[in-house]
Amino acid sequence: MTLLANHPDTPFAAKLLQRRQLSEDTALFTLAPEAAALPSLSRFIPGQFVQLSVPGAGEIPISPADLAHEDGTVDLCVRRVGHVTDALHQALEGSTLGLRGPFGAGFPLAEMEGHPVLLLAGGLGIAPLRSLLLHLLRNGERFGEITLMYGAKKPQLMLFREELAELAARGGLRLYLTVDFAPEEPWGGFSCAVGLLPDLLKGFSFDAANSYAAICGPPALYRCLGADLERAGVAPQRILLSLERRMRCGIGRCCHCALGQKLCCVDGPVFRLSELKEIPEAL
Ligand SMILES: Cc1cc2nc3c(=O)[nH]c(=O)nc-3n(C[C@H](O)[C@H](O)[C@H](O)COP(=O)(O)OP(=O)(O)OC[C@H]3O[C@@H](n4cnc5c(N)ncnc54)[C@H](O)[C@@H]3O)c2cc1C
Ligand code: FES
Repeated sequence: MTLLANHPDTPFAAKLLQRRQLSEDTALFTLAPEAAALPSLSRFIPGQFVQLSVPGAGEIPISPADLAHEDGTVDLCVRRVGHVTDALHQALEGSTLGLRGPFGAGFPLAEMEGHPVLLLAGGLGIAPLRSLLLHLLRNGERFGEITLMYGAKKPQLMLFREELAELAARGGLRLYLTVDFAPEEPWGGFSCAVGLLPDLLKGFSFDAANSYAAICGPPALYRCLGADLERAGVAPQRILLSLERRMRCGIGRCCHCALGQKLCCVDGPVFRLSELKEIPEAL
C-alpha cells in the first residue's frame, strides 16, 4: 500500500503481527504500521480512535487498547459483530491491513495529573480504558491513586483478566472485579464480586471531590454511573465518558456521527458529563 504522508483520508499499511483470542468473540490484534505512520501515531492519546481498514471488507473505528510509542505497534481489542470485524477475525497473521489516525479527543491527561483516577469499565469498555490504564500506571508518579472497577457478564467474558490481576499484584492499582452471574463451576484464580458494576461503587470510599472518573461500556451504564458519581461528589466536568456512534469519515466531514451540535469523531469520542448534559440525545 502506498501512502500520501499525513493525509487523514489515506490509510497507512499495517502488518498484522499477532492475534490473541481473549474470549469466544473477542481478540487482541497487534499491528505493526509502516514507518511513515509513526509520526502521527506517536501523537496518540488514550481514548482517541483509529480507522482500521480490512481489504475487501471496509473500514471501522476502533479505540486502541494500547499504542507503544517506541515502535508504534498498536493493540486493537475487537469483538466480532458484523461484516468488517468478521473479516478481521479471519485475517491471517502477516496480512496487510490499513490504519489511519489517531483521531478525535482523548482523555485530558495533563489536566488529570495530580488527581486520583477511577476507571469504570463494562464489558468491551475495558478495551479503550486499557490504554488509559497503562498510561496511568507507566506514569504513576504523576497521578494520584488509580482504581479500576470492571464488570462483565460472566468470568469467561472478563477480558485481560490475567494481565489486570498481575498489574494489581505489582501495586499501584486498586482492582475491583464483578460479574453479573455467579460462575456455575469453580473458576480459577480470581476473586470477583457477583453483581452489577454500579454495585461496586456503593459504599466505595474515595476522595471524590478531587477525583477524575473515566467510564466506558454499554450506553445503559452511562446515565446510572454518571448520576452515582455525581452523588458521590465527583464534579461533572471530571466525569469522562467515551461514546460510540456510527462513523464514516472519522474526520468531521460527513456528519454521520452528529450528536446535537457536536461530532463524535472530532469533539469526542471522550466527552465530559457536563457537556453531554447539554445534548438530550447523547445518553
Ligand atoms: C470511537 C469508537 C471506538 C470503538 N472502539 C471499539 C473497540 O475498541 N473494539 C470493538 O470491538 N469495537 C469498537 N467500536 C465499535 C466498532 O467500530 C463496531 O463494532 C464496528 O464498526 C462494527 O463493524 P462491522 O462491519 O463488523 O459490523 P456491521 O456489519 O456494520 O454491524 C454489525 C452490528 O454491529 C452494530 N454496530 C456497527 N457499528 C457500530 C458502532 N459504531 N457502535 C455500536 N454498534 C455498532 C450494528 O448495528 C449491527 O448490529 C468502536 C466504535 C467507535 C465509534
Ligand atoms: S464520522 Fe464523518 S463527521 Fe464524524
